[in-house]
Amino acid sequence: MLRPNRVLSFVLSLAIAGVLVAACSKGSSNSNQGANMMATSAGNSMMMAMGDAAHGKKLFTQNCASCHGPTGREGGVGPSLKNERSRKNNSQTMAWIKDPQPPMPKLYPVTLSDKDVADVAAFVQSL
Ligand code: HEC
Repeated sequence: MLRPNRVLSFVLSLAIAGVLVAACSKGSSNSNQGANMMATSAGNSMMMAMGDAAHGKKLFTQNCASCHGPTGREGGVGPSLKNERSRKNNSQTMAWIKDPQPPMPKLYPVTLSDKDVADVAAFVQSL
């Protein structure tokens, strides 16, 4: 199915992302969004890399608000996520969204990408 040159370019892009992440982490503390995204897509979870909560809020409105309430604090079919950070930290929240218990639907990876999960988790952590 995968043609060899596609596999090769995927491996190469992983390697490039790795170099960028390494360069970035020993350089300025100001890690830019691009490297951050590549780190996520390379599966290279930088310590405590937080998603983009503003984008997460949009994703939440589209995918989660029907059960957790318009702001996530109201609850409904699903529980209120107010102060969710006291129950689950950022990585636990991401793990839950990727593989939730029913009736919460599993939206990853069909609807939500890895970056989307990180972004919506960052938003949930802010509630
Ligand atoms: C169909 C309704 C539904 C949708 C849509 C839904 N959830 Fe849930 N969610 C639930 C229910 C029900 C639970 C409680 C499940 C349990 O505790 O077993 C839950 C639990 C959770 C929890 C854990 C709460 C705790 O107790 O720690 C988090 C975090 C969460 N949802 C986030 C999300 C996010 C983010 C989205 C959107 C990507 C989402 N949910 C979409 C129904 C939903």
